Amino acid sequence: MKGKIAIVTGGGSGIGRATALELAQKGATVVVVDLDEYGADKTCGAILQDGGEALTYNVDVTDKKGIIDLMNEVVKKFGSIDILINNAGIGGELSFMEAYSDESFDKVMDVNVRGVWYCMKAVLPIMRKQETGGAIVNVSSVAGIGAAPRMSAYAASKHAVIGLTRTAANEYGKHNIRVNAVCPTVIDTPMGRSYIDQDDAIVEIVKATIPMKRFGEAFEVAKTICWLCGDENSFVTGQAIAVDGGMKA
Ligand SMILES: NC(=O)c1ccc[n+]([C@@H]2O[C@H](COP(=O)([O-])OP(=O)(O)OC[C@H]3O[C@@H](n4cnc5c(N)ncnc54)[C@H](O)[C@@H]3O)[C@@H](O)[C@H]2O)c1
Repeated sequence: MKGKIAIVTGGGSGIGRATALELAQKGATVVVVDLDEYGADKTCGAILQDGGEALTYNVDVTDKKGIIDLMNEVVKKFGSIDILINNAGIGGELSFMEAYSDESFDKVMDVNVRGVWYCMKAVLPIMRKQETGGAIVNVSSVAGIGAAPRMSAYAASKHAVIGLTRTAANEYGKHNIRVNAVCPTVIDTPMGRSYIDQDDAIVEIVKATIPMKRFGEAFEVAKTICWLCGDENSFVTGQAIAVDGGMKA
């Protein structure tokens, strides 16, 4: 990945941080995008300390103008955007559908769908003009390929991410742009823990549905993301790859 320019949204924590570190370790220059300045700085600091190249960009993925400015500034500074990881996301409230608030539904859809939509819309014309094309990986979830009880908005948003992934892969394959998604089960990150910590009984029920009988680690998702957007993967596009210990097999 030497010489490649990669953008990771939500790179200030969890899966995004692990992905930013993995990309940098493989030689990419990483733009760590996050709402959380402190988290982004921490990721960036770890990369720089390791001898890698990174910078932070503080923007909300639901801010359309902010996202367009981000993409333009990265191209102006580095000349290309080779990799985009649409990872920023939120879980929303935990309640059954009839009690689920409209506000939380809107917020989840805004960040998890509109955020991915804005980032893809802004980067696709840039990648299309590049001879080398580009690679996009969208972070969906097992909630994007099946039910997620008490997380209806989250499930709707992650299904939508797969719809955007498949459609972009179809539309932009001819421009050598590959677009894939990963679908993790519960991963041990601040978001994952906020779910795990809710209820011991639920933890055991969910673990029992995972053939490998454990939750995942952020680095395990990061490795799959890096493979999907790396040159060694040159012909896989439009896929939603479960990273789930066999849960959806
Ligand atoms: N942890 C899990 O169990 C799990 C499982 C499946 C999928 N996912 C998905 O993986 C992705 C990363 O999750 P995580 O577990 O690392 O979560 P996390 O909460 O640890 O990290 C998410 C990061 O995204 C940032 N972010 C949130 N909203 C943003 C916005 N509007 N603009 C910019 N940045 C924003 C946060 O500040 C945070 O740094 C999410 O899309 C999530 O839905 C997580």
